[in-house]
Amino acid sequence: MTIEAHSGERWGTRLGLILAMAGNAVGLGNFLRFPVQAAQNGGGTFMIPYFISFLLLGIPLMWVEWGIGRYGGRYGYGTVPGMFDSMWKNKIAKYIGVIGIVMPLVVFIYYTYAVSWMAAFSFFSVVGDYFGQTTVDQMRGYLVDYQNIFDSAIHPGWVTLLFFIATLGFVTWILSRGLSGGIEKLALIGLPVLFVFAFILMIRVLTLPPTPLGSVSEGLNFIWNPEWGKVLDAKVWLAAAGQMFFTLSLGMGTIHCYASFLTEKDDVALTGLATGATNEFAEIVLGGTVAIPAAVVFFGVEGATAIANGGTYDLGIVAMSVVFQELPGPAFWGQLTGFFWFALLFIAGITSSVALASPAMAFMQEGFGFKRRSVAVGVGLVALMIGMLHVLLYTKGWYAEWDYWAGTFGLVIFATIEIIIFSFIFGVDRGWKELHNGADIRIPTVYRVVIKWITPAFLLILLGWWTVTAAVPQLLMTNLTDQSQVMWRWGARLMIVAMLAVGLWLIKLAWDRRDAANLQRGG
Ligand code: ALA
Repeated sequence: MTIEAHSGERWGTRLGLILAMAGNAVGLGNFLRFPVQAAQNGGGTFMIPYFISFLLLGIPLMWVEWGIGRYGGRYGYGTVPGMFDSMWKNKIAKYIGVIGIVMPLVVFIYYTYAVSWMAAFSFFSVVGDYFGQTTVDQMRGYLVDYQNIFDSAIHPGWVTLLFFIATLGFVTWILSRGLSGGIEKLALIGLPVLFVFAFILMIRVLTLPPTPLGSVSEGLNFIWNPEWGKVLDAKVWLAAAGQMFFTLSLGMGTIHCYASFLTEKDDVALTGLATGATNEFAEIVLGGTVAIPAAVVFFGVEGATAIANGGTYDLGIVAMSVVFQELPGPAFWGQLTGFFWFALLFIAGITSSVALASPAMAFMQEGFGFKRRSVAVGVGLVALMIGMLHVLLYTKGWYAEWDYWAGTFGLVIFATIEIIIFSFIFGVDRGWKELHNGADIRIPTVYRVVIKWITPAFLLILLGWWTVTAAVPQLLMTNLTDQSQVMWRWGARLMIVAMLAVGLWLIKLAWDRRDAANLQRGG
C-alpha cells in the first residue's frame, strides 16, 4: 500500500499534454545549442550521426521514459526514486533515483539563468540597446559585459540580477498554478506563439539577399551536405548523441514526471513519438533554418563556423544580434526581428524551465505532503539562492561545470541506468507490454530488440568513449586555459555532490515517513 500522491492532478487535454511535453523538449537546445553543435561539427556531417542517434537513442529512450513515468504514476510516484523502487524490488533502487531529482534541479537553476538573458535581450532588442555594437567582437563584448556583473560598463550588474529574479518569479508563479492551470496553459499559449515567431523568422532568413560573403543556399548546403570522409570522427558522434539527449530532454527526469500524471488507459506510444517529432521539427526545420543560414549570409561558412567555435551563445546571441543590425530596411525592422528571435528563445526556454523544476516539486509534494504553492515558492527560493552563484561566478566557470556534469555527461549516465533497469531488471517483456497499454499505435517490433540490446550497447559505448576522451580531461581540467578558475570549478562540482547528498537524505526521510504512515494504516 502506498500513500496517495500527485494530489489528484491530471492533464486537462491530450493536446495540452503534447504541447507541454513538446514545451519540455523544445528549448534553448533547439535554437542555440543545435546550430552551434552542427556548425562546430561540419554541418551536414553532423546530421548523419544525429539522425542515427534519433532512431537508436532518441525514440527508444523517449518511449522508455514515458513508460517508466506512467508506470510509476500508477503507484503514486511522480519522480524517479519511487519509479525505480516500484520497478525494482531492491532497497538501493530509490537511492539511485536521486539523479532524477537533483540533476534536473541543477540544470533548472543554470538553465533558467540563461533563459533570463533571453528576457533581457528581448528587451534590449525592442529598445535598440545593442544597436551600434556592429561587429562580432563588439557584440561579444556586450554579452560578456552583461554576464560579468563585477566588471560591467554598459549596464549595472543589478540589471542582470533583476532579469534573473523576474524570470524565476515567473517560473515560480506558473508552477504554483499547478499542472493543467499552470504548465499546460503556458504550453497551450506559448507553443503556438513560438511556432508563429519561428515561421516569421524562417521566412525572413530564407528571403535574405546574398552578400559578398555568402547566401542562404550556401547556408542550407552547409547544413545538409555531409562530408562523408568525416562521418566516422568519434567527436562528431559524441556531439550528435549529446545534442539528442539535451534537445529531447532525455535523462533528465522531466518526461517521467510529466508522464506520471497519465492513467493506464492513456496512450504513450503515439504521444511520445508525436512529441519527439515535434521537437525535431522545431530543431531541424526551424532551428536549422534560422541561425546558421543567417550567419552564413553575413559571415560566410568559415566565418559562421569560427563564431560557433566561440561557444553555445556566440551564434544565437552574438552573431544574430549583429545580423539584426545588418538587415535591409529601417533599424526598427531589425529591432522587431531581434525581439521575435529572443522572445521565441524566452518562450522555448521557459516551457523547459518549468519542466526541469517539476521533479523537485513533485518529490516534495508526494514525499512530505507539502502543498503545491509552498513547494513552488520553496523551489523558487532555493533556485534563487543557488542561482546567485551562477550570477556571481559565471566568468569563473561555475556555469560551464554544471552544464558539463549535469547537462551533458549526467544525462548519459542517467539514461544508461534507466535503460538497464527497464530492459533487464523490470524486463523488456513487461516493459513492452506496459508501453502498449492504451496505445494508439503498435510500436514496430524491431524496437523491442533496439530497446533491449542496441540502445543499452550504444549507451555503454558512448559512456566509455566519452569518459575517456572528454570526462577525464574535463575532471582533471587538462584543457583549462584560465588556471584561476580551478578552485571555483571544484567549488561548482562539490556543490552538485552536496546537492546529491541532500537528495539522498531527503529520499530516506520520505521513505521513513511513508513506512510510518503505512504501518499506522495497517495497524
Ligand atoms: N530540451 C530542452 C532544450 O532543448 C532542455 O533546451
